[in-house]
Amino acid sequence: MSNSAFDEMVVLARAAQENAHAPYSNFHVGACVRTESGALYAGCNVENAAYPQGQCAEASAIGNMVTSGGHRIVEVVVIGGGERLCTPCGGCRQRLTEFCDPDTPVHICGTEGLRKTLTVADLMPFAFVADNLDKS
Ligand code: THU
Repeated sequence: MSNSAFDEMVVLARAAQENAHAPYSNFHVGACVRTESGALYAGCNVENAAYPQGQCAEASAIGNMVTSGGHRIVEVVVIGGGERLCTPCGGCRQRLTEFCDPDTPVHICGTEGLRKTLTVADLMPFAFVADNLDKS
């Protein structure tokens, strides 16, 4: 895979990963989301001595996007260490579902580069979305 938006997203996700605060898991993750307007927002995981208070990289990137006025995500990059795919956790799949279309690509990367591209629907089939709240 090689397009300039993707390459820039990887650079930003890597930079975010470097800033991860992950002294408990020692598992550093970076993420970057691209909006319809082309804006890019990165984030890293931020852990806490009270473990459940930790925040994933995807959540940080989404928070940065929303804080800056972004709404819709058209592409996602996640970078993690280890040999396995650093796929978003269940909570982050729900978070991505909120701001992405089902066919939005999620590029899962390792330190060496792209490992696999999935869609949000691949990650989150039968998602609970705003329409599910319709009680009529
Ligand atoms: N983590 C993320 O930030 N994103 C993922 O996609 C998977 C896991 C973080 C949460 C925690 O800080 C650490 O990785 C270990 O689970």
